Amino acid sequence: MDKKKFYITTPIYYPSDKLHIGHTYCTVATDAMARYKRLTGYDVMFLTGTDEHGQKIEDKAKAAGVTPQQFVDNIVCGEKGILDLWKLMNISNDRFIRTTDDYHVEAIQKIFKKMHDNGDIYKGTYKGKYCKPCESFWTESQLVDGKCPDCGREVEDAEEEAYFFKLSKYADRVQHLLEDTDFLQPASRVNEMVNNFIKPGLEDLCVSRTSFTWGIPVDFDPGHVVYVWVDALFNYCTALGFMNEKYDDYDKYWPADVHFVGKEIVRFHSIIWPAMLMSMGMPLPKHVYGHGWLVMDGGKMSKSKGNVVDPYVLAERFGVDALRFFLLRTFPFGSDGNFSNELLINTINVDLANDLGNLVSRTTAMVEKYFGGTLPESRQTDALDDELISQLSALRGKYEAEMEKFQFQNALELIFKCIQRANKYIDETAPWALAKDEANKPRLASVMYNLLESIRICTVLLNPFIPDSCEKIFAQIGACECCRDWDSAAKWGSLSATVTVHKGEAIFPRVDAQKALEELEAIQEAQKKAALPAMEFEPMAEEKVDFDTFCKSDFRAVKVKACEAVKKSEKLLRFTLDDGTGTDRQILSGIHKWYKPEELVGKTLVAIVNLPPRKMMGLESCGMLLSAVHTEKGEEVLNLIMVDDKIPAGAKLC
Ligand code: ME8
Ligand code: MG
Repeated sequence: MDKKKFYITTPIYYPSDKLHIGHTYCTVATDAMARYKRLTGYDVMFLTGTDEHGQKIEDKAKAAGVTPQQFVDNIVCGEKGILDLWKLMNISNDRFIRTTDDYHVEAIQKIFKKMHDNGDIYKGTYKGKYCKPCESFWTESQLVDGKCPDCGREVEDAEEEAYFFKLSKYADRVQHLLEDTDFLQPASRVNEMVNNFIKPGLEDLCVSRTSFTWGIPVDFDPGHVVYVWVDALFNYCTALGFMNEKYDDYDKYWPADVHFVGKEIVRFHSIIWPAMLMSMGMPLPKHVYGHGWLVMDGGKMSKSKGNVVDPYVLAERFGVDALRFFLLRTFPFGSDGNFSNELLINTINVDLANDLGNLVSRTTAMVEKYFGGTLPESRQTDALDDELISQLSALRGKYEAEMEKFQFQNALELIFKCIQRANKYIDETAPWALAKDEANKPRLASVMYNLLESIRICTVLLNPFIPDSCEKIFAQIGACECCRDWDSAAKWGSLSATVTVHKGEAIFPRVDAQKALEELEAIQEAQKKAALPAMEFEPMAEEKVDFDTFCKSDFRAVKVKACEAVKKSEKLLRFTLDDGTGTDRQILSGIHKWYKPEELVGKTLVAIVNLPPRKMMGLESCGMLLSAVHTEKGEEVLNLIMVDDKIPAGAKLC
């Protein structure tokens, strides 16, 4: 008989920046689900990939001085790029699609043409705002304070010829899909979609652009490129071979069982995507699951906010499995989760090192110590065993129910309840006391067997989350292949009665929290700095100053006769200056951060001398010294204006 099929996808990621822990979260969740389905006997197709077109990528490439293709190639395939990251994270995707792949490009052109030919895509005008200097079209909602979001300048009304998709035509069918089926999950996301987007009236969607070129050309109308979301959403079908010759799996796997997507793109997946599939006459995916964000200090991680966490740093420091585990154990998949290093380290220490790691190492150590590593056949059971055995025997069923609802946190909670129960069982049975009397050996063997069986069942079910560690645990407890599978997870007693254990290294070493936190903070601080622009300058003033006003400012060359730090002030230096008048001039300047007072004595500087005197820290300052300021890697840099020493004190600058 053919195996049951399961098709699951992640969003395809924008290779506009390196990926962060938020992207890793979604991919790890999808991987755990794919592995779980394979474990339960499904023929799984797990797709991920990259969404490589669009204006943002074109702009970034331009800024980096490379072609858009070179730009995305580097982020996708380069060192520590997206492919490397998924390999490191042990992601078991069956396929990887890039929207710049030829077969995808060709298929999208056919799909666009088909919707055009069936009347669902028509030509119209796209009304928006245009920023001339940037040559960019913007919608009203993209503007920042009514101005260009890129350069902050004024925008003007503009029109551009564009194709539109008849989204409005599908409003009723999409509303029914959302309200009357379990298509969109968690159900809590349905209201937002219906109330905010469908009920106010769905407008037709602009699906082509002419103002930039980095996209899939509309082959029957040169100058137009296909809107990036049309290009991106159909990846889920083209990657199976839909409308192309590259693959032949469309009939086998479509419709998808579930698309996992972040909450901000639920709108595209639950409204636009089904509408386009309806237009194409294609079956709809069975589910879209909108997961929450990993946030930091209350905000979504983003490169521009400088609050991104690098998965490489965490995986290298704590291990891939610890990171995978943390992401799915700590946060409910449907809600936002607040990431912190403390939480990560705490989860590793409590769950992995303390509960699971200890259970495995204590148990294998005891079997080696009391039985030389191999359990004898003789046994003596006790009523004390019943609770443990019944809890473990019921685990698979409960776990399955949670996994089928994508409730990874709950599934892991069930497993860890069992692990904690097994640890308690060690205390209850006190094997060290039993070991004192040879006559207790059969009882001691039963206790050891029950512990090994508990570990085995938990390990089978942990496999989708921490596959490499589970291999190690299976090897340590002597579980053969036939007692590592799904069936065996529901069969207490699958482990050989005379099993041989192999105590090994600690699978999850305890983390020295204090030390690790300090190290992580230092690394993350350095990364944050490195991500800042090398150099930044104040934007030039827009407002004009009239010539006469400017001429009123009196700039003079001055020579530093003495300079000292102002007591009780961290910033201020007190200058005694020769300004050519014969009377010393005193100026206070907040530049101690950049200069030692003694190095300035004798220098020729520039001061504005006709400012009204000001008191600072009880001292009078008569004028201001001119300096040049800019920002380097987020730090303000200041240089005093120093002029040629042959310029005499008092000379007027004009
Ligand atoms: O949206 N926490 O790509 P993308 C959790 N190309 N998930 C996060 C996250 C965070 N902090 N940050 C990002 C796109 N994500 C489109 C998808 S699909 C046809 C096209 C998730 O690289 C985000 O929610 O901006 C989204 O699901 C995914 O990463 C890709 O984001
Ligand atoms: Mg996004």
